[in-house]
Amino acid sequence: MRYLLSGAAGFIGSHLCERLLGEGHELVGFDNFITGAKANIAHLVDHPSFRFEEADAAGATFLAEARTWGQFDVVLHFASLASPKHYLAKPIETLESGSTATRNMLELTRQSDAKYLVASTSECYGDPLEHPQKETYWGNVNPVGPRSCYDESKRYAEAMTMAYHRFYGSKTAIARIFNTYGPRMALDDGRVVPAFLEQALTGKPLSIFGDGTQTRSFCYVSDLVDGLLRLAHSDERYPTNLGNPAEITVGEFAERIRTLTGTASTIEYHPLPENDPQRRRPDITKAKTLLGWEPKVVLEDGLRETIAYFKTRV
Ligand SMILES: NC(=O)c1ccc[n+]([C@@H]2O[C@H](COP(=O)([O-])OP(=O)(O)OC[C@H]3O[C@@H](n4cnc5c(N)ncnc54)[C@H](O)[C@@H]3O)[C@@H](O)[C@H]2O)c1
Repeated sequence: MRYLLSGAAGFIGSHLCERLLGEGHELVGFDNFITGAKANIAHLVDHPSFRFEEADAAGATFLAEARTWGQFDVVLHFASLASPKHYLAKPIETLESGSTATRNMLELTRQSDAKYLVASTSECYGDPLEHPQKETYWGNVNPVGPRSCYDESKRYAEAMTMAYHRFYGSKTAIARIFNTYGPRMALDDGRVVPAFLEQALTGKPLSIFGDGTQTRSFCYVSDLVDGLLRLAHSDERYPTNLGNPAEITVGEFAERIRTLTGTASTIEYHPLPENDPQRRRPDITKAKTLLGWEPKVVLEDGLRETIAYFKTRV
């Protein structure tokens, strides 16, 4: 099959590239490197089935350029600033990647009569009042808070995707991705896994925001990629949660990192940022039933792989 992937040089994008090329597909991947890195795909750029382009999915000339790349069977839209540190620093680009870029990728989908999947997020649930979060929950999002540039851009992306499905009959899918981790996360992106690992591996104190009782759940990237591709090829049009339902407090997680890295780092507590969610855990019943999917990689194993990668980076 011929795939188009935005955000190909990012963390998840680079794993999708690896998986799709490994399965023998043809792939056109592009990225504007706003947060991604050439190094993430350096081992793939000479692959005969891979074409990489530097392009901005929200750019004024993007559609004209991308239309010269040919027809696609599947379009995957992963381009977006994804970590709070990045999207708080570049809120307008973030909103553009959910809005203009999503519309552009949907237009390319329509032109090819392709299947389409957009990387949405658990942030659509905001600071949720329901636990765990099911896809039927509409969320508790502050539309004008500092994080709204990300949350609302993804909610808009979901709405635009459903509009293309309803109005044009596009074969769309929406993945609500929960915290995912693994090799090739950017060391400086501020998310809890790279932040703790960088601190642990350099002997700095591990920073916990709040008292550490807030929960997160972490999905290893190979599990996520598997779920994403199953979903892209399904006939499900409404959002589907993909994540690991195993919930852990941030405090416990810090202890786990200390043990696995063998660091002497202490723990330092900082004030909780505005609108930081207290609990985050996916209900993945839908993905289990519909796609026969559930995560397989246990936290310790995924963390060992991730630590090995980060050791080569710090
Ligand atoms: N990693 C997670 O835990 C997680 C959770 C929920 C949702 N997601 C979503 O998955 C996708 C990938 O996230 P990631 O963690 O790999 O982040 P990432 O920052 O590593 O990757 C995103 C990539 O998109 C590129 N990009 C951004 N805007 C672009 C544009 N306008 N044109 C072209 N390229 C652009 C960036 O340069 C980067 O390479 C994002 O849409 C993100 O919102 C990720």
